[in-house]
Amino acid sequence: MIEATGLSKRYGATLAVDKLSFSVPPGQVTGFLGPNGAGKSTTMRLILGLDAPASGAVTVNGRPYTSYQRPLFEAGALLEAKTFHGGRSAYNHLLCLALSNGISRGRVGKVLDLVGLGAAARAGGFSLGMSQRLGIAAALLGDPPVLMLDEPVNGLDPEGVIWIRTLLKALAAEGRTVFLSSHLMSEMSLTADRLIIIGRGRLIAQTTMADFLDTGSGSFVRVRSPQAGPLAAMLTTRGATVTRQDAGTLSITGAASEDIGEIARLNGFTLAELSVHQATLEDRYLELTRDAADYQAAEGTLAPAGK
Ligand SMILES: Nc1ncnc2c1ncn2[C@@H]1O[C@H](COP(=O)(O)OP(=O)(O)OP(=O)(O)O)[C@@H](O)[C@H]1O
Ligand SMILES: [Mg+2]
Repeated sequence: MIEATGLSKRYGATLAVDKLSFSVPPGQVTGFLGPNGAGKSTTMRLILGLDAPASGAVTVNGRPYTSYQRPLFEAGALLEAKTFHGGRSAYNHLLCLALSNGISRGRVGKVLDLVGLGAAARAGGFSLGMSQRLGIAAALLGDPPVLMLDEPVNGLDPEGVIWIRTLLKALAAEGRTVFLSSHLMSEMSLTADRLIIIGRGRLIAQTTMADFLDTGSGSFVRVRSPQAGPLAAMLTTRGATVTRQDAGTLSITGAASEDIGEIARLNGFTLAELSVHQATLEDRYLELTRDAADYQAAEGTLAPAGK
């Protein structure tokens, strides 16, 4: 369990984290979303006590993370890959971490196997994807109840992406708290049960994935019918909002597909299609964070250089 109350952090003129309160419960994967510069990595550093907040507080399993004598047993974190000693093998890197935290040599071999680095672990020279795996191995060393990963999917190959998704879901199913940030919405929608969304350091939403996808615009029912006109009129009188896509196709909000099907049956309308289109996580995320993004590309094409 991670709990933050009124957390703020300032870097000079930038208020990186602004009175942020949230909780990350055990037993679920919680996704941490927000535009570039929103304050996600800063929040994660505050959770680990690597930065001190200007105000507010955050606890891991009920206490500040820095108050634990053996912190790797409380929470494991992957903040940025490639934070290990370049000249050291993966095995030695983990061994140093393990020994300084009172963790057995045997556990090092176990976590290396778990992240698929077993054979490669004695050599130096790591690709980005291998570094991510090594970072995850380090996070798992103490078999902690809380795992926190900042963009762990970055640089992983497709097999690696599936592997981490499966691993994180399994760790959450064991009752652990799993908190991860990512900009990959399709991946997040497959992995996370809950979402915390921030923009410019402030909380925008804290909700379950299902509720997040169900609310807001973007979801609609599509109907194709040779009697689209009369059907549209009937649905409108019952309070639905109907948009004509073409002569025979309607897109409808404000009415459930079951009700539309029943109205069509009772009135003898033929339906060639009745389909529910749900907004994707990407749709909903962009809708919600549009005003909170610091960096947005200009529209239009790039003029040739020198013009
Ligand atoms: N060490 C630092 N010194 C000064 N400013 C910083 C520092 N770290 C972060 N910031 C600023 O704080 C804000 C939040 O940055 P942060 O890295 O937490 O965002 P983020 O949500 O992790 O972004 P991204 O998605 O790009 O990783 C940004 O405006 C950033 O420039
Ligand atoms: Mg970041």
